[in-house]
Amino acid sequence: MYKLLRLILLALLPMQAVNANEMTMRIVGGNPVGQNAWPSVVAIKTTRDGQVLCGGNLIHPMWVLTAGHCIKGEAEGLYYEYGTPDLVIFSGATGLDSPNGRHMQIQRIVVHPNYNMSNGANDVALLMLSAPLEGATMPVYADNPAPGTPATVVGWGARTAKANNGYPGNYPRQMEQVTVPIVPNEVCNAPNSYGGKIQSSMLCAGYPQGGRDACVGDSGGPLMVQQNGVYRQIGIVSQGEGCAMAGKYGIYTRVASYAGWIQQFAPPPYAQAPVAQASDPRANYPGGAGTLNITWLGFLALLLCLVKKYRFRSQPQGI
Ligand code: ARG
Repeated sequence: MYKLLRLILLALLPMQAVNANEMTMRIVGGNPVGQNAWPSVVAIKTTRDGQVLCGGNLIHPMWVLTAGHCIKGEAEGLYYEYGTPDLVIFSGATGLDSPNGRHMQIQRIVVHPNYNMSNGANDVALLMLSAPLEGATMPVYADNPAPGTPATVVGWGARTAKANNGYPGNYPRQMEQVTVPIVPNEVCNAPNSYGGKIQSSMLCAGYPQGGRDACVGDSGGPLMVQQNGVYRQIGIVSQGEGCAMAGKYGIYTRVASYAGWIQQFAPPPYAQAPVAQASDPRANYPGGAGTLNITWLGFLALLLCLVKKYRFRSQPQGI
């Protein structure tokens, strides 16, 4: 029952935000991307209602790299865990309402065995698709880029860190991107920043004054750097205190630290397997392409959500 409640609440968060009367300023400071940008980046949606749960990146025709906390964790004291039937991958479009978008099922979920849901360490997971998605993969970066290197993060997460309800909101339908410099771990561990919480397998990026950052809903999506004209993934959106706040850089899973683990499942070179996509994956997917179904159950859940929010208002935002 709690899991069900949690699923409903989580799925409703973006909807509430869209309905709220919000500031127009985009404090994560990004811009919408073009229609054909970032073909390897996917949205992970819940099959329950088609809401975007997280982002991910196709690092192999069969595998999506994402964050462990997109799959399981604890939120507001409740444990949640998604299984393969609960999730669907949206790919092929940067607009959630685009007719070019397609949905694919997942056949396997692998969360890092050392993922620690209390401190967010080893926040990495791999999702195996039911069929390969060719021609859109992005290689992972098995090296550590120098601090100061501009890195780009993309996703469909909140554009406003604190909407009128005090929660992140203003969720876009079009993917957004923002470029931020990589920050040395020592800087990110300073007392006015994260004070020692950042492990060597984590990576920080952002400006000291804040203003540009990933936010809730961007989790699992890639942080990328350009190398010899090709983008490679160096980070996975993982955590952050609030969004875009001064001194509170975005915290990413450092992909280089997991290159060996990732390659066990998704080995390079990435062989081109025959394309075998379901003819209309939306047919077996309730909700279609990102439609909002406001049923009486949804309404009830919204009420519950508001009640809960009242009770938990004083608590800090989780990961
Ligand atoms: N944990 C958040 C999510 O589930 C993303 C956190 C990123 N926050 C940040 N300030 N960079 O979507």
